[in-house]
Amino acid sequence: MITMARFPMFPALLALHVLSVVAWVGGMGFVTTVVLPALARLPAAERIPAFLEIERRFGLQARIWVLVAGATGGAMLARLPLLALVGTSHGLWVDGMIAFWAFFMLLLFVLEPLFLHRRLRERGARDGEATRRLLLRGHIVLLAIAILVVVGAVLGAQGVG
Ligand code: HEM
Repeated sequence: MITMARFPMFPALLALHVLSVVAWVGGMGFVTTVVLPALARLPAAERIPAFLEIERRFGLQARIWVLVAGATGGAMLARLPLLALVGTSHGLWVDGMIAFWAFFMLLLFVLEPLFLHRRLRERGARDGEATRRLLLRGHIVLLAIAILVVVGAVLGAQGVG
């Protein structure tokens, strides 16, 4: 196993890290499998405004959980002999976590507030159903990647691969 060398704070950091991932990815799963399909029952013009209202509320939680995942992940990474694996074929699971996290930092803190929400509102006003479908496809892809990253992290931490 790769991660035998632990340190006293490791269990608490790992628990908080996993909790943040559960809340973040679980919320993504709820939006993907429940909220976006249910919006199809609203009149087309109301679909994207309703999505943005729900997203605004979950977005705040997601930002907090992404920050907690990064802080706890970074604190563990700094103390474990895993840094040497980054960028190697045995460290793909670590690269995956960092890449997924970095993408969401960009999405939630830069792209969404700068222009993504405005573009969605404009596109949704033109064609609410096409925009809902586009959002659903995007969320399915991100959820699939999130599941791969979680499974990869658990197997990688066990020394598989
Ligand atoms: C900056 C971003 C991140 C860093 C630096 C990081 C780092 C780490 C480290 C060092 C561990 C402990 C591995 C071990 O037990 O030896 C860990 C565990 C874990 N990470 Fe991350 N992580 C990050 C983001 C993520 C993301 C985005 C996800 C999922 C979407 C994720 C999912 C997990 C899971 C499920 C575990 C538990 C593995 C286990 O012990 O079974 N991490 N992470």
